[in-house]
Amino acid sequence: MLRAMSLMAIFVFALIRPVTAADAVNPQADFKAFRDYFTKKFPNVPLNDFVNGPYSMDAGLRKQWLEIDQFPPYDFAIDRGKQMFAKPFKNGKTYGDCFPNKGIGIRQNYPYFDEKSGQVITLELALNQCREANGEAPYSYVKDEMASLTAYMAFTSRGKPFDIKIPNDPRALAAYEKGEEYFYTRRGQLNFSCASCHVQSAGEHIRTEMLAPALGILAAMPIYRSEWNGMGTISRRFVTCNSQVRGVPLPPQDELYRDVEYYLSYMSNGLPIAGPGTRP
Ligand code: HEC
Repeated sequence: MLRAMSLMAIFVFALIRPVTAADAVNPQADFKAFRDYFTKKFPNVPLNDFVNGPYSMDAGLRKQWLEIDQFPPYDFAIDRGKQMFAKPFKNGKTYGDCFPNKGIGIRQNYPYFDEKSGQVITLELALNQCREANGEAPYSYVKDEMASLTAYMAFTSRGKPFDIKIPNDPRALAAYEKGEEYFYTRRGQLNFSCASCHVQSAGEHIRTEMLAPALGILAAMPIYRSEWNGMGTISRRFVTCNSQVRGVPLPPQDELYRDVEYYLSYMSNGLPIAGPGTRP
C-alpha cells in the first residue's frame, strides 16, 4: 500500500511536533513554529498557495488541475447548494436565518468555539443543527447535500482569510489541545499519526497520491475527487484518512474530529478560503 512512500523518513525522524513548551498550551507559539516549519520546508511555495494542497507542490499536477478547473467538476455542487440554501424549510425559515450575515461569506470563521455549549462548532455541524432546530432531519455528514451546502458557503467566502479565534476560556484551549494531540498521535495498524503523512511527509508520494501539507489543508474543502467520483466534506476526508492507516475512524463530527478541525484551521489563520476544490 505504501510502496512509493519513503517509509524510512517516517520511522527514522523523531516526531517534529512544532510545539515550544511541552506543558503549557500556547497556540500563538504553535502557530509560529508550524508556519516556520512549512515555509522553510517549501521555500518556493508562496504562502497563499499552500491552500492548493498537492497542486502547490508539483508543477505537473498543477498543469492538469488548471486544465480541469476550466470546467470545474464541483460547479454542480455550488449550484445545487445555492438552491438548497435559498429554499425555505417546511416552517418557512431558511438556512440563512441560522447564521450571521445570512450565511454569506462566513466560512472563514468556522469552526468556532461556542461558549454556550462549551464545544467546537464546525460548519457541517452548524448546518445540521440548523436543520434540526427547524424540524428537518439531519443530512449525512460526508457527501451529497452536506457537500453541496458547504460548497456553496465556501464559494461565497473564496479569498477571505481564515479567522479562527481561541477565546480566553480554558475549555477552548482544552479543545485546541485535544485537537493538536489527536493530530500528532500515532494510531492504526500502520501506526501513523496525521502528522506522519501531512507534516513529516508532506510533498511526498503515497501510491499515486501526493501528500498535501497540513498548512492550509482545510481551505479548499469540500472537494471533488475523481477517486470518490463525487464531492466529499471535511468529515469524509478525516474518516478516509483514518481508514487509510487501517485504524478505526471516529463517527463524522465526533467531538475529537471537531477539535482537530479547530487546531488545523487555527494553524491556517490568514490563508484564503479556496473551496470548493478538486483533487486528483
Ligand atoms: C497514511 C498517510 C495519511 C495519514 C496518516 C493521514 N492522511 Fe490525510 N491524506 C492522505 C492522502 C493520501 C490524502 C489525499 C492526497 C492529499 O491531498 O494529501 C489525504 C488528504 C487529506 C486531506 C485533504 C487534503 C487536500 O488538499 O485535499 C485532509 C484534510 C487530511 N488528509 C487530513 C488528515 C487528518 C486530519 C489525518 C489524521 C486523522 C490524516 N489526514 C491522516 C494520507 C494520510
